[in-house]
Amino acid sequence: MTADRKTALITGASFGIGLELARIFAREDYNLVLVARSADKLRQLASELEKSHGTRSLILATDLSEPGAPAYLLDQTTRADIQVDVLVNNAGFGQYGLFAESDLEECLRQIQLNVTTLTHLTRLYLPAMMDRAKTERKSGRILNVASTAAFQPGPLMAVYFATKAYVLHLSEALANELNGSGVTVTCLCPGATATEFHKRANATGQRLLKLGSMDARTVAEDGYRALMAGKPVVISGFRNWLVAQSVRFSPRGLVTAIARKMQEE
Ligand SMILES: NC(=O)c1ccc[n+]([C@@H]2O[C@H](COP(=O)([O-])OP(=O)(O)OC[C@H]3O[C@@H](n4cnc5c(N)ncnc54)[C@H](OP(=O)(O)O)[C@@H]3O)[C@@H](O)[C@H]2O)c1
Repeated sequence: MTADRKTALITGASFGIGLELARIFAREDYNLVLVARSADKLRQLASELEKSHGTRSLILATDLSEPGAPAYLLDQTTRADIQVDVLVNNAGFGQYGLFAESDLEECLRQIQLNVTTLTHLTRLYLPAMMDRAKTERKSGRILNVASTAAFQPGPLMAVYFATKAYVLHLSEALANELNGSGVTVTCLCPGATATEFHKRANATGQRLLKLGSMDARTVAEDGYRALMAGKPVVISGFRNWLVAQSVRFSPRGLVTAIARKMQEE
């Protein structure tokens, strides 16, 4: 890896928001560690970014819902002598339907990927970032991708919404704990975004989607800007911001009922 460039590790870089974040980091002269299961997509992206920006990429094609994946990532980056300056915990998925009828294995994989892997990677990469911030006066940055789902319960995607509430709360607490350490934590909360997400979640007919989706590039740019500004939380899109604020002053039962209406087909 080129010594004078910083490195960003991005999970879920093969599609959607993660792919757009990879393009932005490459544009900003970062080298990359690209992580997802689709090795071919990652190779294609790495070659595109090498041609357009001279980006060096390490590709780690792995299933991040496997419990050993975070330790594997740390091992591979250490062996390659890569200092991760920016950790982007973006990989995640949802599953549409009633909880009682859901596939239990898929539910648990969701929690493993969206919650446990994100926490594990953060805990593994944070100490070195803090050390470098102390000794070399370098800054470390962590971007956790939650969702506007984080702001209320979500019937019909109950586990997914709950995982994103965890991501938001963890990120805000860590941002507070790390204040003054040279490492910042930013939580990106997108609303509906046009990616593979809804098809994969079997959730393409929701009322919510009829209100329109943002494009992944705009969401990624919002996340990048907030990350660089060291903001603890960014909600992408004014309408999404407004909705997230409105739930704060409404009765929780009503908020949950409206969330269900928006999830219904
Ligand atoms: N799209 C939306 O409306 C929306 C709204 C709010 C928040 N978000 C959040 O934004 C993040 C990115 O989602 P997206 O919308 O860009 O969805 P996407 O297009 O489905 O992309 C998801 C990414 O995560 C990777 N991924 C999924 N499962 C994985 C696993 N087990 N191991 C490794 N990588 C895995 C996928 O790569 P492989 O399949 O190649 O592994 C892909 O690169 C997620 O955390 C999602 O919850 C999305």
